[in-house]
Amino acid sequence: MSKLVITGGQKLKGDLVVDGSKNAVLPILAATVLNGGLNVIKNCPGLKDVHIMIEILKKIGCKVKFEDNTVIIDSSTVNSTVVPEEYAVEMRSSIIFLGPILSRFGRATVGHPGGCDIGPRPIDLHLKALKKMGTRIQDIQSGVIFSEAEKLKGADIQLDYPSVGATENIMLAAVYAEGDTYIRNAAKEPEIIDLQNFLNKMGVKVSGAGTSVIHIVGGNTKLNDVEHAIIFDRIVAGTYMAAAGITGGSVTLKNIIPEHINAIISNMRECGCRINVKKSELHISGPARPKAIDIIRTLPYPGFPTDMQAQMVALMSVARGTSIIVETIFENRFMHVEELLRMGADIKLEGRLAVIKGVKRLTGANVAARDLRGGAALVLAGLAAEGETTVNDIKHIDRGYEIIEKKLAQIGALIRREV
Ligand code: UD1
Repeated sequence: MSKLVITGGQKLKGDLVVDGSKNAVLPILAATVLNGGLNVIKNCPGLKDVHIMIEILKKIGCKVKFEDNTVIIDSSTVNSTVVPEEYAVEMRSSIIFLGPILSRFGRATVGHPGGCDIGPRPIDLHLKALKKMGTRIQDIQSGVIFSEAEKLKGADIQLDYPSVGATENIMLAAVYAEGDTYIRNAAKEPEIIDLQNFLNKMGVKVSGAGTSVIHIVGGNTKLNDVEHAIIFDRIVAGTYMAAAGITGGSVTLKNIIPEHINAIISNMRECGCRINVKKSELHISGPARPKAIDIIRTLPYPGFPTDMQAQMVALMSVARGTSIIVETIFENRFMHVEELLRMGADIKLEGRLAVIKGVKRLTGANVAARDLRGGAALVLAGLAAEGETTVNDIKHIDRGYEIIEKKLAQIGALIRREV
């Protein structure tokens, strides 16, 4: 199994271009099923999750070519409405195929995503909304969801919680539905805006993304071919900011939209980082030692992202003083803490709350990534630690960071992959 070996103590310095967003590209790849035509998607990160999505597209009959961060998908040849069950286990987001396949073909079969390492991953909000749009759903014990609707109907949907995945699934299902759909208490994440932009290029009329009410005009018959460039990955950007912060480095990030990372910028400033923001660029220099932050709560956008919680715990683990981080989104998202303890961190867990007493320095250790962002946190800790850190099980990290060692080495990290 692959691992990353890091020699800590280097101050990171230099420029990085931030890749396209994983969470934006995944629903957009699923959306390509809708037009029965050609889709050219640029700035697509070469991640494991993207490769799985492409496998699914091929399995249902699309012709796909992926070269130099551009994916070309021809969905005119789709000949199956079944997403094979094994993909649901490999990647929870495969549930996002439910909306577009159902919308275009009137039926879809997708594996139930079940739970995962960071906690249960219910899809009740997705299914409740689709039922309201006229879908008959059989959620069979074997873990496969069969869904059918002769004709989906637009609906006024009030989400109990602003779920990112449910918002996206409803937007996609609404495209061929009869009549308009409104999603209230919708997720406001920037990735939803990117999906709206993609759908509008296809000829669908969608508005309101980025606010809590999204309006999709249904009744589409013929949709256009699309060319679209994916927005930057705000979590990857935040991770590199934390890398500069934890090493006292000085890094410029390019190809970003600063307002998408306001919550991260604000917390990084609070812990002593100096940050200058330009149009599509940001420069961050880390302090000699970070300052503790009284309390951070993970929240839906525009709050502090749960996908940055682990990286922030790593940063706070070497801060001067005690910080508290409350995880309000996922139940079991502190698996990195046990590993950080092995590196000399002083962290106490109390349910969804982590109390982090900053230590002067961490020490290199043999640790294991247990999930994607937790794995990134261990890499950050390794960059700051004294001596050598080995991060095992990096398949989790590869799901969300494109060759992370190459990017970090480019700004001066001593890091290598061993297979
Ligand atoms: C997306 C992101 C993930 C991020 C998360 C929260 C993608 C591919 N993944 O995941 O990186 O961590 O948003 O920002 O974009 N919930 C329900 N019922 C549902 C759906 C969700 O109870 O039907 C709950 C979940 O258990 C969780 C919370 O709502 O506690 C947030 O989930 P959601 O916003 O749906 O996250 P994902 O779309 O799965």
